[in-house]
Amino acid sequence: MTRLVAVALAILLQVMAVMDALAGSKYLPPVTDALTRKACGECHMPFPPGFLPGRSWSALMGGLDDHFGEDAALPPEQAAQIEAYLVQNASNGPNGRGLRDFMRWVAPAGTPQRITENPAFLREHDFPDRVWRDPKVVTKSNCLACHPRADQGWFDD
Ligand code: HEC
Ligand code: HEC
Repeated sequence: MTRLVAVALAILLQVMAVMDALAGSKYLPPVTDALTRKACGECHMPFPPGFLPGRSWSALMGGLDDHFGEDAALPPEQAAQIEAYLVQNASNGPNGRGLRDFMRWVAPAGTPQRITENPAFLREHDFPDRVWRDPKVVTKSNCLACHPRADQGWFDD
């Protein structure tokens, strides 16, 4: 029974994703793993793993002591658990999915570290400087400032 409910819910979410895509917004499954949400949601929103390929997440998890200038180091067991989750759910992961226009840019062996350097991102976010200087925004990686449902995986226009 619970399995049936889960399947029905999964189908409903897919239908919603298609409807929203037609309406001009995009969906990528949000982080659902509790440890990842906590550890990777402390300084910024936990980014949906589908924005990067698994090897990018592995590279990122291997360098947490110098994470974009911050020390985000974690105990090794936690880092390993989070890495496994992110890789599973990455754009190329067995449980993951990506956005086609975002993944087009990623070279077959490339390990980009930033979502915000993807030309697909830059194309959608070609705003004047004053937008980025707005104290409510501050940085491109502050998805929630402009996408209030980003934490649930929705990136609306
Ligand atoms: C101690 C604070 C901190 C923690 C904890 C942290 N991050 Fe970050 N993260 C940052 C900062 C600072 C940046 C750079 C933000 C910017 O340039 O605006 C960043 C950027 C990123 C980016 C690139 C965003 C972009 O610009 O596209 C990714 C991906 C990322 N973090 C993933 C993670 C993951 C995965 C975890 C959990 C293992 C994590 N972060 C935990 C501080 C943190
Ligand atoms: C300053 C506000 C702002 C910030 C910050 C921002 N976005 Fe956006 N984003 C927008 C707007 C506005 C659009 C719609 C652009 C358009 O329609 O051309 C958009 C579009 C998108 C789209 C495409 C949606 C579609 O319909 O094709 C994605 C995916 C996306 N953003 C992801 C992100 C992610 C991930 C982050 C954080 C790393 C982020 N955005 C940060 C304003 C922002």
